[in-house]
Amino acid sequence: MRRNRRFRRTESMLRLFTETDVPRRSLVPAYFIVDGSGVRREMPEHSGLVQLSCDTLRDEAMRARDGGAEAIMLFAVPTEKGVAHATRGDSLACRAVAACEGTGLVRMADVCLCSYTHDGHCGLWHEGNHGRPGGVDNDATVDILADMAAALAGAGAEVVAPSDMMDGRVAAIRAALDRDGLGDTLVLSYAAKMASAFYGPFRHAAESAPQHGDRRGYQMNPANGREAMREIATDIEEGADMLMMKPALTNLDLIAAARARWDVPIVAYQGAGEYAMIAEAARAGRIDRARAARETLLSIRRAGADLVVSYFAPDVWSGALTL
Ligand code: PBG
Ligand code: ZN
Repeated sequence: MRRNRRFRRTESMLRLFTETDVPRRSLVPAYFIVDGSGVRREMPEHSGLVQLSCDTLRDEAMRARDGGAEAIMLFAVPTEKGVAHATRGDSLACRAVAACEGTGLVRMADVCLCSYTHDGHCGLWHEGNHGRPGGVDNDATVDILADMAAALAGAGAEVVAPSDMMDGRVAAIRAALDRDGLGDTLVLSYAAKMASAFYGPFRHAAESAPQHGDRRGYQMNPANGREAMREIATDIEEGADMLMMKPALTNLDLIAAARARWDVPIVAYQGAGEYAMIAEAARAGRIDRARAARETLLSIRRAGADLVVSYFAPDVWSGALTL
């Protein structure tokens, strides 16, 4: 008989033969930034996602830094809509980036228009013509995204992270960064981002739920793994430095496939809905929050992700989650 259980006889053996871990540096917390000061708006109806102003963000960032984080992901949620705000050097997003200057953290700034458009779509909507249906105007959107990325990098973001899923945006962003002398900025592209049911709470926190239609015209069909590989290949060709895969738990196979095929860093995003599933089940007393969080993070790492953006990250520095 083959006794595989030999490895599991004692606590120290369990520790010794552990294959995967979740170092603190691999966890990237994500924050929603709003206008104002002194804001710390906990959203219990969204499992504790929190909106911060630039000053409270800095406090939170310092806490993350002290807790072992090396990077943060920033989403600005400006009160005033209109895509013209997205490209300004003094936009809320740029001020949030600047507010974290000197923390020692790598600042990853989201690049997308859904918090700026009036209808919540990730790009400019056109109504369609000649009997063709409406949709996002890809190329007009890409022009704005490129300038938005350059503005964020100019404000100090070490990483820009386009999450819009338009075609050609990585190349356009690279060109805009080079144009502005910001060529050392890393591009973390959401290469394989599915049109997912797991973004619900994020859209409340980011105030970016589409007011009409859905995102299936630009985000990917969750059924398509081969297409995800094409998206990744395209983004790498266009100059992406790192890949984002999202959601994480429903795409573990694709994370593993991408890991085997490309040697760039892979980041997985455990989205707000993935977080909420666990947070709410734990709140209802059905599962253990810390154990479930740890198990999901481990499995995402085991699939091959280098970094994981997760709303559980602050649990680590609060002491609620031991990795
Ligand atoms: C918007 C964006 C979304 C997320 C990251 N960027 C939501 C969406 O596409 O609707 C998801 C984040 C999360 O679920 O936590 N471009
Ligand atoms: Zn968007």
